[in-house]
Amino acid sequence: MKIIVCENYDEMSKEGAKIIAALLKEKPDCILGLATGSTPVGMYKELAEMNKAGEITFKNVTSYNLDEYYPLAPDHDQSYRYFMNQNLFNNVDIDIAKTHVPDGLAEDPAAMGAAYDAEIEAAGGIDLQVLGLGPNGHIAFNEPEDELYVGTHLTGLTDSTIEANSRFFASKADVPTQAVTMGIGTIMKAKKIVVLASGKAKHAVIEKMMDGRITTQVPGTILKCHPDVVLICDKAAMEG
Ligand code: F6R
Repeated sequence: MKIIVCENYDEMSKEGAKIIAALLKEKPDCILGLATGSTPVGMYKELAEMNKAGEITFKNVTSYNLDEYYPLAPDHDQSYRYFMNQNLFNNVDIDIAKTHVPDGLAEDPAAMGAAYDAEIEAAGGIDLQVLGLGPNGHIAFNEPEDELYVGTHLTGLTDSTIEANSRFFASKADVPTQAVTMGIGTIMKAKKIVVLASGKAKHAVIEKMMDGRITTQVPGTILKCHPDVVLICDKAAMEG
């Protein structure tokens, strides 16, 4: 795992954007795996500015997002589809028909998950997957458990994740308790993975990312087995 420590959030965002921009130039029809949450917002802003300046184009890009709350409609203002439209898709020249977010209203989430993974595979696989890290070490919504799922699936959210994400909802009671999420296998199949982490709250998980062990109790540690991971974090996340 390559580790880049940045001075602050802005620098982290620029570093992440640089890596994505390089891929867009090298492979304009690349397949991006995208994350929501607070961490990538600055990077998405950078990318939108680069797009506006004519440095990069998303015209031929296809994207697959990691996860979506369940059950939640795509037009709900806390849905991850809504988040992606607001924070990236509406601000760049991407073809919205080529953007994908797991269906938070799927009647049969298991079938939806299998179809999502099959579609990614048929498209040629994810070239670059963006990830954030939960304070408890989750990646996408693969929460600390004894056993983790390989493919895209329906999952329950831990109380700590519901608490952490309640900042976006009117109250904790409004946060959905379930989500549909890519599994660890879906994520690990990506050709390259860029993990972003900012702020003190991520320090404990960053420490776990640095030792020589993996555990399903800190799902992010499994990324150590991937051949091409770049962890970009700021000093606050690295030093605590
Ligand atoms: C988002 C996702 C989550 C977040 C994580 C960190 O699509 O899958 O795993 O990356 O919860 O969230 P923030 O960035 O808000 O700290």
